[in-house]
Amino acid sequence: MKILIIGGGGREHAIARALSKSTKTDKLWCAPGNGGISAIAECFPEIKATDLDGMLALAEKLQPDYVFVAPDDPLVMGLVDKLNEKGFKTFGPKANAAIIEGSKAFSKGLMKKYNIPTAAYETFTDEDKAVEYIKKRNSYPAVIKADGLALGKGVIIAKDFDEAKTAVHSMLVDGKFGKSGSEIVIEEFMEGTEVTVLAFTDGKTVKPMVSSMDHKRALDGDEGLNTGGMGTIAPNPLYTEKIAEECMEKIFKPTVAAMSAEGRPFKGCLYFGLMLTKDGAKVVEYNSRFGDPEAQVVLPLLDTDLVDIMEAIREERLDSLDIKWSKNSCACVVMASGGYPEKYETGKEISGLNSDGQAVNAANSAYVYHAGTKLDNGKFYTAGGRVLGVTSVDEDLRTALDKAYEAVGTISFEKAHYRKDIGAKALK
Ligand code: AMP
Ligand code: GLY
Repeated sequence: MKILIIGGGGREHAIARALSKSTKTDKLWCAPGNGGISAIAECFPEIKATDLDGMLALAEKLQPDYVFVAPDDPLVMGLVDKLNEKGFKTFGPKANAAIIEGSKAFSKGLMKKYNIPTAAYETFTDEDKAVEYIKKRNSYPAVIKADGLALGKGVIIAKDFDEAKTAVHSMLVDGKFGKSGSEIVIEEFMEGTEVTVLAFTDGKTVKPMVSSMDHKRALDGDEGLNTGGMGTIAPNPLYTEKIAEECMEKIFKPTVAAMSAEGRPFKGCLYFGLMLTKDGAKVVEYNSRFGDPEAQVVLPLLDTDLVDIMEAIREERLDSLDIKWSKNSCACVVMASGGYPEKYETGKEISGLNSDGQAVNAANSAYVYHAGTKLDNGKFYTAGGRVLGVTSVDEDLRTALDKAYEAVGTISFEKAHYRKDIGAKALK
């Protein structure tokens, strides 16, 4: 099977690696891909993931047996629909289902209609009405979210009225997130522990993967700005079997059934961002794709052939496929450019990597997923905010974390920044 992966970050590297292990894969392409992915897939750095016409033309040229659409933007923009119209097989939801991530007003409305537990909320397009609502509620922190996609940055947790008012103004009036922020969701702040559960679904059956824990804030101790994710561990020990059962009945199955009932069957990987509150698990957000860097810790624990899962989803027979997971733990530490998620420099030479982009001085169990790198004349350079996801699998979480950090210590670039406390909460 010849497979084209759309995307070019650490998540796509993890998907490419999982697909490269399949006995059914003959050829892998990745567009745009990145420096590190090019060690296992032929990349097309000149085509942006959001260039749908460019991607369609590439598919026409390469004639892949499958196209795996990994990032949110092309999914929400309808790349899967367009590829299907041309007869290509795909992995990923159609636009009418990807809206579960593309519009928070949609996803909140879905949860309200189908009684899926989530934070209480209201939506607004008018500044005065939004401010009036915040004043009336008088409960802080207040959570203010841009409706649309905003690179994980469209959520503001305001600690008082002034901050909340400024957030509303920045989105609805100043257009901070462009069209994505022309409608906003204001919701109740949920207290608890966050868990990510990715799930395979064919629109009928839902099969959760091993749970994970993301670390969204830039700095140790969950300080600093929200990022795309600074590190992950899997499984998440705080997500017990009992909680998993509750989530299956109250959240996972009802969500998949609701999307189908709405005429929007979701086929692909559905991301459940959950908060374990004292009143039970509630949905923080849905994503229409694998998380990044969740994919980097979940996929290495998958023992079933990913191509078999893709086929079962496409043919809507996921119920009859037994998906197996390793009992090991996996940890991923993201090395980012200094300054990320705000302004940062790129083009810094990365030392400690061999020609395949792997840590030359680290234990064999470490694997380096490339998020933002460029390969030039045999050398790797930084090319993004998140640069590398240094990962290790082991029998227990502590060893996996130790080995991932050991490998991080063998890699360097100017102004590299990483969190020192990935997984710390899980070890307590
Ligand atoms: P989102 O993009 O919706 O996942 O939000 C980003 C992050 O903001 C989440 O991972 C949470 O840490 C936090 N967050 C979002 N909504 C809430 C909420 N209602 N209560 C508490 N924290 C939240
Ligand atoms: N790591 C969070 C996300 O992929 O949205």
